[in-house]
Amino acid sequence: MIISENSKELQTNTYSKSTPFLAKINQKRRLARDGSTKQTFHLELDIKSSGIKYKPGDSIGVLPKNDIALVHEYLQVLNASGEEFILDSRSGATVSLKDFLSYKANLARLQSSFIKTILEYEKLPEKRTTLENLLIPENKPQLLQYLAEHDPLHVLKEYQSKDIPLQLICSHFAPLLPRFYSISSSQKAHPEEIHLTIALFTFAHAGQQKRGVASHFLCEFAEEVVTHIPIYVQPSHSFLLPDELNAPIIMVGPGTGVAPFRAFLQERQASGSSGKNWLFFGERNKKSDFFYEEYFTDLELSQKLRLDLAFSRDQEEKIYVQDKMLESSKDLWIWLQEGAYFYICGDAERMAKDVDLALLQIAQKEGGLSEETAKAYLKSLKTEKRYRADIY
Ligand SMILES: Cc1cc2nc3c(=O)[nH]c(=O)nc-3n(C[C@H](O)[C@H](O)[C@H](O)COP(=O)(O)OP(=O)(O)OC[C@H]3O[C@@H](n4cnc5c(N)ncnc54)[C@H](O)[C@@H]3O)c2cc1C
Ligand SMILES: NC(=O)c1ccc[n+]([C@@H]2O[C@H](COP(=O)([O-])OP(=O)(O)OC[C@H]3O[C@@H](n4cnc5c(N)ncnc54)[C@H](OP(=O)(O)O)[C@@H]3O)[C@@H](O)[C@H]2O)c1
Repeated sequence: MIISENSKELQTNTYSKSTPFLAKINQKRRLARDGSTKQTFHLELDIKSSGIKYKPGDSIGVLPKNDIALVHEYLQVLNASGEEFILDSRSGATVSLKDFLSYKANLARLQSSFIKTILEYEKLPEKRTTLENLLIPENKPQLLQYLAEHDPLHVLKEYQSKDIPLQLICSHFAPLLPRFYSISSSQKAHPEEIHLTIALFTFAHAGQQKRGVASHFLCEFAEEVVTHIPIYVQPSHSFLLPDELNAPIIMVGPGTGVAPFRAFLQERQASGSSGKNWLFFGERNKKSDFFYEEYFTDLELSQKLRLDLAFSRDQEEKIYVQDKMLESSKDLWIWLQEGAYFYICGDAERMAKDVDLALLQIAQKEGGLSEETAKAYLKSLKTEKRYRADIY
């Protein structure tokens, strides 16, 4: 028994970027309801027999697969069947060209070495001049702009690429890197599953609407029970529940930032914690974007959760999670004085900064602190590891 437990532990640590576990999806459903302007999904991955162990706050690394239609476009322009063998210099493995383009190559990012290789094989003088000009050291700003505005497919179509040896051109693609997703389940509640909460990324590039590689793979391409999802656990060393089982926790998680907090709450319920829980959740519209509504409102009704909601687009003026924090500043300050741990997860660019500012204002208003002392107070919360962030 002890041996088998140990071997399971060992197995857990063997999954990595180079040796992922191939999980399948037990269930996938839209979290955003009809009428939503968002496309956010809940996925349940089957990890039965993997030996994987995870804790609330951990993420998983996913090795995505590029869009198959895009891979076929590359095969067409390269005049290849896809069966050709390619040595992937990064892993040392030999794979088919189709697999290389599907799993190993970043098809969205153009590197300058790719352009240099194209130039070596371009014969038309005017096209050579265009590329040579881009590669002159003084023209670096133009080169950077060109790289940002084009992808390898565009360049392959625009220039004479059919004579370039496949192995050579493949060695100039940037690598397709893993993407990380917060685990939104507790293993105590779901021993054989990992749940994820994923927003489909869309963005405009070169006048076209594009989808993010991994979020497209998981939300749209991957099929329940059929598609293999290569994963490994990325353990968190700081974004963890408090060691004290019953310490109060305040969680701020708009959008997909709510994912680890579902895991925290499931874990606290499963381990019989009597600690107070307070969640600030925000999304666009209450009717369509109240993710995990039933779960959170049930917890609220049974007085296991204090729930504050900020639906930004239900009224003319935006209401965000930090506005809700400021509305309840007195209570929030009391919770902090009682030793509450403060957690924040989600958008790093704007939300996390604004939430931090709101906390600073609360310390000033409710604690009667000067701006400087309030800053020192937040710093001390971080040093004591009572202010924990997982932002991206
Ligand atoms: C610790 C951690 C936890 C996370 N947890 C979650 C989670 O729980 N749920 C969740 O949904 N996300 C989460 N994320 C974000 C997630 O890892 C991905 O970043 C996100 O899904 C986008 O990945 P993608 O492959 O779909 O998009 P990508 O293909 O990587 O594109 C992402 C962005 O890159 C830019 N971009 C890409 N290609 C180009 C190009 N050719 N030209 C110009 N710009 C370009 C665009 O701005 C685009 O929006 C987390 C991130 C981290 C670090
Ligand atoms: N490139 C893209 O197209 C794109 C699209 C969506 C998300 N993202 C990124 O994807 C990640 C997660 O996105 P997500 O879908 O989970 O949700 P999100 O985009 O972070 O949105 C969740 C909620 O947060 C609100 N919000 C916007 N700015 C905020 C701020 N400064 N402070 C507090 N709340 C704010 C949003 O309101 P409003 O939207 O009404 O302002 C929305 O109600 C983030 O890193 C985000 O930046 C990128």
